[in-house]
Amino acid sequence: MYVVKTVKEAKEITRKWKSEGMTVGLVPTMGYLHDGHLSLIKRSVADNDKTCVSVFVNPIQFGKNEDFGSYPRDMEHDSALCEQSGADLVFCPSAEEMYPEGFCSHIEISGPAEGLCGARRPGHFNGVCTVVMKLFNIMAPTHAYFGQKDAQQLAVIRRMVKDFNLDVEVCGMPIIREADGLAMSSRNTYLSAGERKAALCLSHALKEVKAQFESGERDAAKLKQSAQAVIAGEPLARIDYIEIVDIISMKPIDRLAAPALCALAVYIGRTRLIDNIALEVLK
Ligand code: PAJ
Repeated sequence: MYVVKTVKEAKEITRKWKSEGMTVGLVPTMGYLHDGHLSLIKRSVADNDKTCVSVFVNPIQFGKNEDFGSYPRDMEHDSALCEQSGADLVFCPSAEEMYPEGFCSHIEISGPAEGLCGARRPGHFNGVCTVVMKLFNIMAPTHAYFGQKDAQQLAVIRRMVKDFNLDVEVCGMPIIREADGLAMSSRNTYLSAGERKAALCLSHALKEVKAQFESGERDAAKLKQSAQAVIAGEPLARIDYIEIVDIISMKPIDRLAAPALCALAVYIGRTRLIDNIALEVLK
């Protein structure tokens, strides 16, 4: 497995593969890899001739008061996990390599990037799209893998790929959870033991929404109330948002008639966690 830090090396290796007619899968990550990330890598390894994983904590997608400085990092462990999962190349550039002196071009995206996390984290999805566009240009993947855990990010990337006619197939992958239901996240490491227990209110709230939905409830306000009630029972939790949105446009809906998503962001102490569940309306 190659571990490369420069754009030049990453380009040379991947272009050689492409010139030999190989398919190349890319799994963009910010590292501190867990089983959620590894499920994406393993899918890519199964689907493609070669698999690249990028590990880069992207400074431009963090707000001023967010956790860029404290975001967990462990490059050695990440490399070992990539190798065990069958990856062929890990690209782990420095911030200076990705954004050298004079860097001044950015992707600006609206549409699906506007609500939910986009509204609470101004500029976040512009930063995500800018780095993902760079990674696509550097490694020229035929396939790219993103988790449904960040459902809005997936919708935003799909939109960008469509809008810019990029030659990459975006593959959305299911949310991987801990045995008790907590969605895996690198940020779970911030939680104390008490907070870890409290964090279960996110998946419990979504389970309740799904149960109500399955027993026939189609009113988004009522479904949101049922999630709010579960989270209100957890003293360490503070709701950032709970929304029911269309799965492609990410716009809020009042009555469920097409595939939708219940998405939420909740602070557990000082840690902001997100989770979501798909609500499939069968026609
Ligand atoms: P990061 O949070 O490291 O996540 C990398 C990829 O792993 C994303 O596509 C994310 O949705 C997926 N992922 C995370 N937790 C998951 C889980 N529990 N189950 C399934 N997939 C999961 O998302 C980012 O990094 C960045 O924004 C990035 C796209 C790399 C751009 O900087």
